[in-house]
Amino acid sequence: MPSAVTLSQITKSYGSFTAVDRFSLEVERGTVFGLLGPNGAGKTTLIKILTTLMRPSSGDATVEGFSVLSAGKEVRRRIGVVPQENNLDRYLTARENLILHGRLHGMKPAEYNPRIDELLEMTGLAGRQHDFPDTFSGGMQRRLVVARALVHEPRVLFLDEPTTGLDPQSRRALWEHIRRLRHTMTVFLTTHYMDEADALCDRIMIMDHGESLADGSAAQLKDAFSRAHTYEVDFRGDASGFREILEELPFVRSVEQEGATFRLTLSGEDALKPLIDSPVGRQIRKICLLEPSLEDVFIALTGEKVRE
Ligand SMILES: Nc1ncnc2c1ncn2[C@@H]1O[C@H](COP(=O)(O)OP(=O)(O)OP(=O)(O)O)[C@@H](O)[C@H]1O
Ligand SMILES: [Mg+2]
Repeated sequence: MPSAVTLSQITKSYGSFTAVDRFSLEVERGTVFGLLGPNGAGKTTLIKILTTLMRPSSGDATVEGFSVLSAGKEVRRRIGVVPQENNLDRYLTARENLILHGRLHGMKPAEYNPRIDELLEMTGLAGRQHDFPDTFSGGMQRRLVVARALVHEPRVLFLDEPTTGLDPQSRRALWEHIRRLRHTMTVFLTTHYMDEADALCDRIMIMDHGESLADGSAAQLKDAFSRAHTYEVDFRGDASGFREILEELPFVRSVEQEGATFRLTLSGEDALKPLIDSPVGRQIRKICLLEPSLEDVFIALTGEKVRE
């Protein structure tokens, strides 16, 4: 069974600038894959190549087994696309936008009408379906673009920052919908929201400067970057003077203190027992491992610097 999406050694150059460099990837069917990366990392470039809007400079990519180079039509038939910029037809009403899309995919009214009713309901736009997109808020337009991508029940759904500009209610409604879709289609999304990637994606890839930096489930990525072994420790009673004692312990790398709460970075997991056995050990009331967030992982990999 072919993968839903493959990229093999994809390179894309704009003039002398290489935006994506020999990038390879396979996405398993029926999963939600999330591509994360700072502005300019190359996410949209990859989505444009996969959705046949742009040809790679070298390498090949497939969707549901069809090459984007030699079988673009087959690819387009099987995908739904939510581009980073809304591209609705402003001279058609919301419903007409969806109907046009259904027709372009060879659907008959008996097929697309019930589907469109369902999608308008799901995106909360049923009451505005006969209005023009220009009269919609940014978030409502975004929801309409998402609905449009689903009219023809694609096998693979590409979402380039689908929830940018959506209010928390709409974001959650869309998450819910994506979760329901995951068993019937493959979802390939980009996002700048770490909580979104954490909540939705079976697998996350963090990229920068056209290359992959890390790849795995949210839990795997956090694990791989929690080597620092930082613990939050609360002591019983008066903890004044503990700081000096803790700093002297050979297996304690660093100490931060906020009142009676200490943040200790230990040399490793095997330092826990010596800590308990140390002079302050009996006074420990609570100790817990500080898990890095996905955002910590992202910043550790891509740096703090803001992109041009
Ligand atoms: N048409 C183009 N001509 C020249 N350079 C381009 C073009 N499109 C993209 N680039 C450059 O390629 C790089 C990758 O851009 P891309 O749009 O893929 O980034 P992205 O990861 O989607 O970023 P963002 O998070 O801001 O959407 C950037 O440095 C961008 O300036
Ligand atoms: Mg982009």
